[in-house]
Formats: sequence, C-alpha cells, structure tokens
Amino acid sequence: DTEETLQPRSPIVTVMGHVDHGKTSLLDRIRQADVASGEAGGITQHIGAYQVTVNGNRITFIDTPGHAAFTAMRARGANLTDLVILVVAADDGVMPQTVEAINHIKAADVPFVVALNKMDKNDVNPDKVMQQLTEYNIVPEEWGGDTMFIPVSAKTGLGIEDLLERVLLIAEIHDLRANPHRLAEGVVIEGELDKGRGAVATVLVQKGTLRTGDYLICGTNWCKVRTMTDYRGRRVEEAYPSMPVEITGWSDVPEAGEKVQACDEKIAKEITNLRLNEKKLEEQKKN
Ligand code: GTP
Ligand code: MG
Ligand code: NA
Repeated sequence: DTEETLQPRSPIVTVMGHVDHGKTSLLDRIRQADVASGEAGGITQHIGAYQVTVNGNRITFIDTPGHAAFTAMRARGANLTDLVILVVAADDGVMPQTVEAINHIKAADVPFVVALNKMDKNDVNPDKVMQQLTEYNIVPEEWGGDTMFIPVSAKTGLGIEDLLERVLLIAEIHDLRANPHRLAEGVVIEGELDKGRGAVATVLVQKGTLRTGDYLICGTNWCKVRTMTDYRGRRVEEAYPSMPVEITGWSDVPEAGEKVQACDEKIAKEITNLRLNEKKLEEQKKN
C-alpha cells in the first residue's frame, strides 16, 4: 500500500483485566446502554466488539472475558489491537488475570493505559494498586514513569470522558491508517454454529473493504459472504478497516484468531481444498 492509498481508520481498543473488575460495565457506560446490568457480575463468555462515536471520532472497542479460562482470548485481544485499556478494580487491586493481561500486552508490545475502576466505592486504595503495578515495571506518570493511570467509575461515570480523551490522543499520535481500496483482510474474533443461520463469525476488518458476495478464505474454510451485520444488528453491504461485522455464508465454522482474506471464487475454493488435503495428509502421517 502506497502513501496515497492509506486513509485514516478508527483505533481498535481492547479492554482487559481480571474477572469482575468492570470491563463490560465500563464499555457499557461508554455506550450508555445497559448490557452489564443484565450480566450482573456474570462471566463474559465472548469477545464483544462495538463501535462508539466520541466527539465525532469513531472508536472500535473489544471486550474480553476476565475469567481464568479465557487466556487465548486475552492473547488474541492483545494481538489485534492498537491500544489496551487495562482495567483494575481499585478496591481489589492486581489479581492473577491482571498479571496475565500485562504479560500479553508486553508480548504484543502494544500501548496501554490503566483504568482504576470502581472509584465510587469507599474501600478503594488507588495508591496501593499503583504500588502493586510497579512490581511489573508499570509506573504512573506522576511517579516519573510513562503509564497513564485514569481513575474511573463505570457506576457513576467518573473519569470516563478523561479516559476517552486519552484513548483518542494516543490514537492520534499513532496516525492509524489502512487502505480501503483493496481486497479485504481481517481476523476472526469469534465463530460459532447458529441453529438458524449455520456457521457465523465476527470478523474484524483490518485492510480493504469487504462486501456481501465477496469470497473469503480462512484456514480450511471458504465463505461466500451471504450477510453482514454490524454490532447494532443492522444489515450492512460494506465493511471498512477497523469495523467488526458478523458474517454468514461459511463452509464451516472458522476459528477465533484465524486470518481472513478476500479473493476470487476459484482461488478461495482451490486454496481451501489444498489446505484440507494437507491437513488430511498430516493426520494420516500421525496415525
Ligand atoms: P468479566 O467479564 O466476568 O471478566 O467481568 P467484567 O470485568 O466485565 O465486570 P462486570 O462489568 O461484569 O462487573 C462486575 C461487577 O462489578 C458488576 O456487579 C458490576 O455492577 C460491578 N461494577 C463494575 N464497575 C463498577 C464500578 O465502577 N463501581 C461499582 N461500585 N461497581 C462496579
Ligand atoms: Mg465482562
Ligand atoms: Na463479570
């Protein structure tokens, strides 16, 4: 992609942290909807992907589960993102999945900010959390380090504007661009078998523009994009860089983390067949 073909794209921001530290509530507050209350401290089972418009700037948010069982999702989240919001409940402090998230953030070498959540509670100790994080070489700016700490409350809305401003500022510094004028490339965020619709996958478009009717290859699957639905459940005909869309029309359920590439029909089917044959040969070798 040459300089002229690159156009600004929205930042992709992943929210990570220990179970029940308030990731979904925070995103919910940002969206001003009420999804987390239905969840009522329940376990997030999937990565949720949303787009939000803040002061005319669109941001793509990816929610991840904090439960210990979802290591792979955290690793994926860190890898497909431009920026991480590390949520730490200021009453609970650094916990095992906080540390795991830090490790993924560092491995992916991705910028991050710390959101000290639940600041509305009366048993919070933000200084203690900051102290705990210095053990992982995460030092707040006010202590001479280079990490932004933003006190927030998903419950009252405290600090949310500040958090969003910081996110947009970091995005601006990184001058995020992609070429929309090419065949689409993206990554599977999650895939599942739906009783009515067959194989369904949420795909985050990273480059190019994806259109209904396009052919895709994805691991050993191909897809003729039958329908695309945005995070609000609205049908769309086109998906641009940084946009998450739910796609139907797959030959089989794609796996989270797999790369998706648009190409012509013949190539999609030939490559899929080659890969399936390779897979079969490898399985025969094993037996
Ligand atoms: P997992 O997805 O399971 O990892 O949890 P999560 O990090 O998404 O946390 P969730 O948003 O589900 O919130 C967990 C509990 O903390 C819920 O009961 C929320 O109401 C509560 N909670 C979240 N944020 C705040 C906050 O800022 N203040 C207070 N007082 N409670 C909060
Ligand atoms: Mg959640
Ligand atoms: Na929860």
